[in-house]
Amino acid sequence: MEKKITASIIGTGSYLPSKVLTNKDLESMVDTSDEWITTRTGIKERRIAEDDEYTSDLGAKAAVRALSSAGKKPSSVDLIIVATITPDMLFPSTACFIQDKIGAKNAACFDINAACSGYIYAVEIAKRLVEAGSHDTILVIASEKLSSITDWTDRNTCVLFGDGAGACVISGENSGKPRVLYTYTGADSSAAELLMMPGGGTRFPASIQTVENKLHFLKMAGKEVFKNAVLCMYKASEKIMKKYNISIDEIKCFLPHQANVRIIDAVARKIGIEREKVYLNVQKFGNMSAATVAVGLDEVFKEWDLKSGDKILVDAFGAGFTFGSLVIEW
Ligand code: UT7
Repeated sequence: MEKKITASIIGTGSYLPSKVLTNKDLESMVDTSDEWITTRTGIKERRIAEDDEYTSDLGAKAAVRALSSAGKKPSSVDLIIVATITPDMLFPSTACFIQDKIGAKNAACFDINAACSGYIYAVEIAKRLVEAGSHDTILVIASEKLSSITDWTDRNTCVLFGDGAGACVISGENSGKPRVLYTYTGADSSAAELLMMPGGGTRFPASIQTVENKLHFLKMAGKEVFKNAVLCMYKASEKIMKKYNISIDEIKCFLPHQANVRIIDAVARKIGIEREKVYLNVQKFGNMSAATVAVGLDEVFKEWDLKSGDKILVDAFGAGFTFGSLVIEW
């Protein structure tokens, strides 16, 4: 009888640009204050990539670290999936640029766009492919340079976002490493216009007007998005726990998307998990869209004192609206 494969995360890595932009720095750019940003969001600082440092550069650095922690050569990777809403270009894919940068010459490459939920969607795809036996070693990367689509004159949005990348290597080799036990993904697109970047696609191709009307920047109706975030993230956690019969007491670490500490607190309260089990990085990196939980997973794997059998619940929400969750067993 064939042995059933359960996808494992055999290595993780992350990369944050070195330039730090603090709330104090933002006070001299827009009409805001450290006090407002801290109390409304929990964010104290975020990282900003250099002008000549692209999404593929951030992703490639995270990928090299993930491969090194997995003990794998780039040539052993048979697929690269990049989750991003800030690709180097509309095409070719950022995954292709990363393939060249890291020398993963035997890999197929594609990008996915599920906004902040992108890493969870990508891990789900990778899990299914290795468990089906079609791929052995998949590099999942979430990389974002949100500073490139941020309107630095709009205080409603520019205080919220940051740049960064996280990556993991998913394998079917049953190594005993953390296993991706369950995945759940969903979407509710009835209010998609609440969070978007309108310009540059087929609806508003780049023109002088799209630049003048600032359509190449991220637009968000913050309050409405906030309410949807709490509902969708609660749903994503509830669905996976109900479907696979997991009680909240079994979860040793809750790793939610990091948009706002108030959203995280509300979701944690609704699912009934203690604050000390909730992972937070929003204070130091802001919202890095898909890269947020990818960087978080790398930090949890390296810094948390997890024991064999401990479960991590990952939960995200993003533009679309998309949402999703993972249960990973240490
Ligand atoms: O990754 C997923 C997508 N993103 C999210 O999930 C973010 C969801 N939304 C949020 O996190 C929050 O809605 C925000 C942090 C964006 C805003 O917080 P809020 O408590 O919903 O504030 P608000 O939009 O109701 O604004 C309150 C006031 C307004 O002034 P008035 O109209 O009451 O006079 C804003 O103009 O705060 C003002 N404001 C600011 N003041 C100082 C908005 N941004 C700033 C700012 N500094 N940066």
